[in-house]
Amino acid sequence: MSTTLDWISAPVASPLHGDVRVPGDKSVSHRAVMLAALADGTSRIRGFLEGEDTRATARIFRQMGVRIEAPATGERIVHGVGVHGLRAPEGVLDCGNSGTAMRLLAGLLAGQAFDTTLTGDASLSQRPMRRVTEPLARMGAVIETGAGGVPPLRVHGGKTLAGIEYTPPIASAQVKSALLLAGLYAQGETVVVEPRPTRDYTERMLATCGWPIEFSPGRAALTGGHVLRAIDIDVPADFSSAAFFIVAATLVPGSEVRLRGVGINPRRTGLLHVLRLMGADIAADNPHTAGGEAVADLVVRHAPLHGIEVPEEHVADMIDEFPSLFVAAACAEGVTTIRGAAELRVKESDRIAVMAAGLRRLGVHIDEAPDGAAIEGGRLTGGTVDSHGDHRCAMSFAVAGAVAAGEIRIADCANVATSFPGFVHLAQGCGLVLHTG
Ligand code: S3P
Repeated sequence: MSTTLDWISAPVASPLHGDVRVPGDKSVSHRAVMLAALADGTSRIRGFLEGEDTRATARIFRQMGVRIEAPATGERIVHGVGVHGLRAPEGVLDCGNSGTAMRLLAGLLAGQAFDTTLTGDASLSQRPMRRVTEPLARMGAVIETGAGGVPPLRVHGGKTLAGIEYTPPIASAQVKSALLLAGLYAQGETVVVEPRPTRDYTERMLATCGWPIEFSPGRAALTGGHVLRAIDIDVPADFSSAAFFIVAATLVPGSEVRLRGVGINPRRTGLLHVLRLMGADIAADNPHTAGGEAVADLVVRHAPLHGIEVPEEHVADMIDEFPSLFVAAACAEGVTTIRGAAELRVKESDRIAVMAAGLRRLGVHIDEAPDGAAIEGGRLTGGTVDSHGDHRCAMSFAVAGAVAAGEIRIADCANVATSFPGFVHLAQGCGLVLHTG
């Protein structure tokens, strides 16, 4: 994924309007493939995210002998092989840009009878993996990392795993999920107690598949040795993808955008709380459930924003939404302060540094801190920014272009395909003036 693709986002002349469904949730799509592959029987997934990250996960299970059909766009039929039915793959397992794939698979593969090697692209190859390999080693797993604890991961199979009780030093759904997936293969109980609750899709989907599991916000416990039932799942629209439209419609005067069927699991919707504290007008309409998850249509109308201190209790619940919050804050009246978000430095890019550098190029005053930033709102100028191959930074800068005084050229946008294929088209449909350049 090193092809260079630039975007140009120009100021809009009229309000944004639209009634859109953004693609399926990335976290749910990854887990649906993983658990369906390990289930007894045939599962059907609808609303599957056709992104490079989630396709990488599906490809990896195909390499391990799972038959996965794609009868239509966004649909997968997974012929599960059972918890012990995976086969040794030929070659390495390439997770592409996806930290979720690599970390969850590290746990799942630690329990197999065969050896595997997990690799990733240039960004993933710099991301910390000890956060999963260390607790997995305490369970009896043997996983070698590259120097400094980064990929590739060489996972040795044939080990006997034992459950542990573990409190990760950082709040991470990926770490929690890696341990729970290893726990499927472990003797005794695996318990994860989190410093702050994180997204609970692994727990909820395991329960839907009939695996005995106890969980509540911040705690999950299961024992090994059960079976998974096949599932039919409708993946909700991804809140993290909806976030770009939420911020865009908030910022552009006169706008009104409806986002259909968006997953509103409380562990994902911290941005809603924070934007509302800043003055945003976002209504949740037509609440219902899909795929066992709470969903709603989000109706977003333009509203002027003012700066706030972002309450730290919301940080974990909006960990993927900070690039768009940086843009909202840069357009708000007054200063917005973010703290307690050091994790942003080890995402697909160092998101504090990338967003701060880009917004400075657009005339914004930002003080960076190790775990956040203070952003002074004002009018953005046009200019050239670099997304550093980070999909969410690229899309956030595209939103900034709508309200800047001049065009913004955004470098290195190809990785948007990892999470949001079709973003440019949907954004244009709502009135954004965005094209490749
Ligand atoms: C994810 C968890 C989050 C998030 C990532 C997806 C998941 O990472 O940033 O995009 O699907 O479990 P952490 O758990 O490392 O915070």
